[in-house]
Amino acid sequence: MLINFWYPAERSEALKADAPLRVQMLGLPFVLWRDSAGRAHCASNTCPHRGGSLGDGKVVGDCIQCPYHGWKFAGDGSCARIPSLGPIESLPPASRLDAYPVEERYGLVFVFLGDLPEGQRPTIMPCAEYGQPAWRTLAMNYRWRCNYVRLVENQSDPSHVEYVHAGFGMAGKDTQYKVPKINVQEGGPWSAGAMVVFYSPALPDQDMRRMQAEGRNESGSGYHGAASTWTRVNFNATDKMYIYLYAVPRDELDLEIYLVMQRNCMLEERYDENFLRRMGVAVEEDRIVIEKLDPAVPEVVPLGEFVVPADDIILHYRARLADWHRRGWRIDCGRLAAMRGRVACAIPSPARRLQPVGWAVAPVPLLAN
Ligand code: FES
Ligand SMILES: [Fe+2]
Repeated sequence: MLINFWYPAERSEALKADAPLRVQMLGLPFVLWRDSAGRAHCASNTCPHRGGSLGDGKVVGDCIQCPYHGWKFAGDGSCARIPSLGPIESLPPASRLDAYPVEERYGLVFVFLGDLPEGQRPTIMPCAEYGQPAWRTLAMNYRWRCNYVRLVENQSDPSHVEYVHAGFGMAGKDTQYKVPKINVQEGGPWSAGAMVVFYSPALPDQDMRRMQAEGRNESGSGYHGAASTWTRVNFNATDKMYIYLYAVPRDELDLEIYLVMQRNCMLEERYDENFLRRMGVAVEEDRIVIEKLDPAVPEVVPLGEFVVPADDIILHYRARLADWHRRGWRIDCGRLAAMRGRVACAIPSPARRLQPVGWAVAPVPLLAN
């Protein structure tokens, strides 16, 4: 699992005023809450006093209050009050929490889990159609017992469609089937993908069939950052459906996936159920295969696999993963598991990078490269 990326912590609508939420990301606990202006905040869930669970505390004004001895913390992680010390002006610096940058977009609460300064952070994968009048949005989320790398590889993989998704491919019946050469395009330093022409069977729904009469469909997919993917389905020159997946590893083999689907065709609400049902079928078809892959957590270098040109986007992603590993962003999951329940730790926040000493809770163990 990698620090220094934006991850979706929760749906915006699930984070209510006055009700903090405890969520797990990258194997560690976090608290989310809204201040009196409705702004969302995220901090390490572990109280630096004696380990209280802040997510089980209360929102008081703009602060989160620990349920154990009532210490209060502001959205920037600074300690605002230690009741047992009485009303004093300056509180000891080690009483602070790691707090993380938060952005609400596309109906989700994104948290930057890392310590990079603002200008060096990877971006949140854009979903440019969100909120545009010509587009309609559907959202769903689901949880798989898999590693995030396996999800990203699957979504970026044009050659599994033929065999895994009977309704989208020819299920291996076409003896001339071939994946055309993949031309991987980079979309800046964090993303890459490719468009590929597919021939699909007639769609079961009459209205959908009209859009895609020939069965020829140019679709594309790729990744953005460690755990986000995009898929573009062009039914024809004008009718499109785009699928964005924002995944968060709750743990190494526990992935929550937030799906945002955009379409600019069949915009009436009565078609929503059909789109959601088809999506749900495809998700389940993928899950059955992905949860059984061996190894569950692939090595990026060396590959340990025999790959073919249809795997080119996956190779591109793995090369980027190797680069992010070299930067020291990879959590040492073995050490973290050994520490669990014995030593509290937190993802280092941007404030910790500026001032590395004087924190009560240990930084999460990272692999050197
Ligand atoms: S453990 Fe949080 S205030 Fe004591
Ligand atoms: Fe799939």
